[in-house]
Amino acid sequence: MKIGIMVCSQTGNTLSVVEAIKEKLNSRGLEAVIEKVEPQGEAGPGSRNIQLKSAPDVTDYDKLIFAGPVNAFSLAPAMKLYMSNLPTLEGKDVALLVTKGLKFNWTGGNKAIAQMKKYCTDRRADIAGTGIIVWSSKTLKEDIEFIASEISEIF
Ligand SMILES: Cc1cc2nc3c(=O)[nH]c(=O)nc-3n(C[C@H](O)[C@H](O)[C@H](O)COP(=O)(O)O)c2cc1C
Repeated sequence: MKIGIMVCSQTGNTLSVVEAIKEKLNSRGLEAVIEKVEPQGEAGPGSRNIQLKSAPDVTDYDKLIFAGPVNAFSLAPAMKLYMSNLPTLEGKDVALLVTKGLKFNWTGGNKAIAQMKKYCTDRRADIAGTGIIVWSSKTLKEDIEFIASEISEIF
């Protein structure tokens, strides 16, 4: 079984969380690969005509983790573009993760997860779990540890 971790990370926060998840998966003897979703140039909330320089292929993976940041109360545009062009995910279990700066999940976290869920369920994936990490949390380290354990144990 091969687990693909598809991550979009502008400043490294989300990447650091998926690295913790990958470590936990590997320590349980599971094969997990991190693949980066990268825009060509600027891809902020106001950017037009975003293009991806890297859009990793999901077909070889049995299970997937999609992870990205919240931008302007929504999923980051590059991750939206990537997920909106995914092929079928039928038969695959997926977990979804977002990181965000603002304290409450209603400042974009819930919406970004709902957007990711829709991209996945439209493609017939089974949603196995979700997580939101708030970067300004006083217990950030523990939060990452908790979510990394939860998500890695789903698989
Ligand atoms: C342009 C921009 C818009 C953002 N909008 C939000 C937002 O609406 N809500 C929020 O909680 N955090 C917001 N953030 C904070 C990021 O989601 C947060 O720093 C995240 O952890 C960055 O992840 P990354 O380092 O993987 O890119 C925004 C950051 C940027 C750069």
